[in-house]
Amino acid sequence: MSFRLQPPAPSRPNRCQLFGPGSRPALFAKMAASAADVINLDLEDSVAPDDKPAARRNIIEAIGDVDWGGKCLSVRINGLDTPYWYRDVVDLLELAGDRLDQIMIPKVGCAADVYAVDALVTAIEAAKGRKKAISLEVIIESAAGIAHVEAIAGASPRLQAMSLGAADFAASMGMQTTGIGGTQENYYMLRDGARHWSDPWHWAQAAIVAACRTHGVLPVDGPFGDFSDDEGFRAQARRSATLGMVGKWAIHPKQIALANEVFTPSDAQITEAREILAAMKDAKARGEGATVYKGRLVDIASIKQAEVIVRQAEMIAR
Ligand code: COA
Ligand code: MG
Repeated sequence: MSFRLQPPAPSRPNRCQLFGPGSRPALFAKMAASAADVINLDLEDSVAPDDKPAARRNIIEAIGDVDWGGKCLSVRINGLDTPYWYRDVVDLLELAGDRLDQIMIPKVGCAADVYAVDALVTAIEAAKGRKKAISLEVIIESAAGIAHVEAIAGASPRLQAMSLGAADFAASMGMQTTGIGGTQENYYMLRDGARHWSDPWHWAQAAIVAACRTHGVLPVDGPFGDFSDDEGFRAQARRSATLGMVGKWAIHPKQIALANEVFTPSDAQITEAREILAAMKDAKARGEGATVYKGRLVDIASIKQAEVIVRQAEMIAR
């Protein structure tokens, strides 16, 4: 490893980010009462162009009026390629109360996109004397975004989370699919005439996790479109968790419990991690750096692996 220590990601649960259109204020109280860790009120693609001003007003009002409890409250602004985004930022920071935690920037294509929003946020915070610093999160959902993912992850100290947006990503890449995440029918290998499906999202997810972990940012899996397919959601989420992502979006309330289930370490995982730590403590007392746990090697690296699970479980329990 480099002599530079890997910076820790923000220590807050981010197992499920629940989305709701800013143009459907009737959903806001239900979102606040849900079991999602993060709420994303949307001004972007779930809101029709004519509804943008009303959605902004709905969201600004709800930030102050709704009891969001201890959730991370985030608003997805419009992309920097639209005429809406600057007004989104200005109105949110000038007119909404201090309860707002985070702004989500969609379709980020380069580090300067984050820099631009950071500069605007910084100026408004200073001008208005806002007490709490707004954090940022971004969506990687274009060819440019994934090509520049490492620079984007390091673009601002405000940046806390980065999601993969499967639908726009697929479109930008020219992928031949209308699916939003999950198994893609035509992405398979053949062996003895039988099809074995592979994962077309894998490399982008792994690139996002590496960029995020390099810069202390939370990597998050984005939407899974087919909200009637619980097992498909679970399978996608389990792959993401195995790769190092900390959570997943919910685009329907049905998906919240599924995300929480997958991204909360299970009792069995926690027990095994604690047993590995205990086995390594005994090994250390004997002056050994490696030992055997349930017939397999565990060594000093195993301590770090087990600590990932134990730390995650303890943080969620808090
Ligand atoms: N948050 C909280 N509650 C929600 C919700 C959401 N995002 N979406 C639906 N609900 C509620 C409904 O109000 C309904 O509540 P009720 O039982 O009290 O009547 C219940 O959950 C069941 O809703 P359902 O009828 O199945 O969904 P719908 O047809 O009203 O809406 C969607 C379906 C997909 C349009 C809606 O869930 C939605 O807008 N999702 C978010 C889309 C979004 O933000 N996209 C941007 C990110 S990709
Ligand atoms: Mg998108």
